[in-house]
Amino acid sequence: MSYDTTTPAPAVAPPLGVGMVGYAFMGQAHSQGWRTVGRVFDLPLSPAMAAVCGRDPEAVRTAAAKLGWAAAETDWRALIARPDVQLVDICTPGDSHAEIAVAALEAGKHVLCEKPLANTVAEAEAMAEAARAARARGQVAMVGFNYRRTPALALARRMVGEGRVGTLRHVRVTYLQDWLVDPDFPLAWRLRKEAAGSGALGDLGAHAIDLAQHLAGAPLTGVSAQTETFVRERPLPDGGALGPVTVDDAALFTGRLESGALASFEVSRVAAGRKNALRVELNGTAGSLAFDLERLNELEFHDHATDAAEAGFRRILVTEQEHPYLEAWWPPGHGLGYEHTFVHQARDLVRAVAAGTEPEPSFADGLQVQRVLAAVEESAEKNSVWTPVPVSPDTV
Ligand SMILES: NC(=O)c1ccc[n+]([C@@H]2O[C@H](COP(=O)([O-])OP(=O)(O)OC[C@H]3O[C@@H](n4cnc5c(N)ncnc54)[C@H](O)[C@@H]3O)[C@@H](O)[C@H]2O)c1
Repeated sequence: MSYDTTTPAPAVAPPLGVGMVGYAFMGQAHSQGWRTVGRVFDLPLSPAMAAVCGRDPEAVRTAAAKLGWAAAETDWRALIARPDVQLVDICTPGDSHAEIAVAALEAGKHVLCEKPLANTVAEAEAMAEAARAARARGQVAMVGFNYRRTPALALARRMVGEGRVGTLRHVRVTYLQDWLVDPDFPLAWRLRKEAAGSGALGDLGAHAIDLAQHLAGAPLTGVSAQTETFVRERPLPDGGALGPVTVDDAALFTGRLESGALASFEVSRVAAGRKNALRVELNGTAGSLAFDLERLNELEFHDHATDAAEAGFRRILVTEQEHPYLEAWWPPGHGLGYEHTFVHQARDLVRAVAAGTEPEPSFADGLQVQRVLAAVEESAEKNSVWTPVPVSPDTV
């Protein structure tokens, strides 16, 4: 028997209709994930890119065609109401996350929401509560902390769980960018508190906090922080006048994990020369692990039991079939990139939907990160006073 591309394919997994809100930076990255995931991984459900939503009718139609969505909507409420959409993927700024996510969950849809989960703890609490109620109806909700899905960091998590670094003493995360060094960079939504919640803190610090808690397997119980806004006025996006910057340019904080480990964080959008420099180091009683996003196929490991004459960090090239997510990709040494984290995110979410299990990171995890963000802001406002973080029992 011969086949060509017009012959119907053999029966595949039943479809999972996806509707996405927002199609700029994250919308493009998520589209890449949805387009690719079913062609790389064997999945119990087949993601179908049903519709994308934006507010400009012409622009959203163009985006739908370019990114591979079957239809376009101009109102997220209409997107949620579509019968061919079972999962709503939220790629908008933080000020709309809560409203869209809660409406989608109440309408019976699964949800993927970009980070940070919300702009305030109150919003995040409402979202976590809506997700908890939806779980009882068989729906799932996940936050887009995609860096967890870098194979090297997933391997680091596995090695911590296996006891390869012993009892953790230090978790150190820095996440540095430099796109705000230029004082003439315009006052975009990321620089307005009402739209973004906070600055480098919520943007980069949310990832750093999530990774620290995830890799250590323990929540932060308190923080001491400083934040700074170095450039306090910037040109309005439509040109001419200056407007006030109402978020931080950088945040520096220390914390304690429930396990007893000490954590330190530095996040900045004014670190000249650093583009997307996410670095993580874990030091334990039996060894250390180190990761640098600019070399994301590598994980450094120091085994402290090694004879002193030969001890030191060694580089693990995280491209083997045995490594997390690598079973479906290229032969050893061929390497993955940033975009693959979104494919892995889609894989894990689809599997959770099919299995009816709680995906990680859940909205409860996103809420816990939000509490840390709020504690950092409170501490910074009060001259770095030690600020406890309330911890929910269902966290991390
Ligand atoms: N996971 C990551 O690594 C990562 C990276 C960047 C941004 N983010 C997060 O993703 C979210 C979006 O950030 P971005 O960089 O894609 O921003 P962006 O400005 O590039 O895109 C936001 C999009 O949302 C659209 N939008 C805003 N309000 C809307 C509404 N009411 N209805 C429909 N569309 C609407 C805008 O038109 C735009 O297309 C934020 O929460 C951000 O923190 C995550």
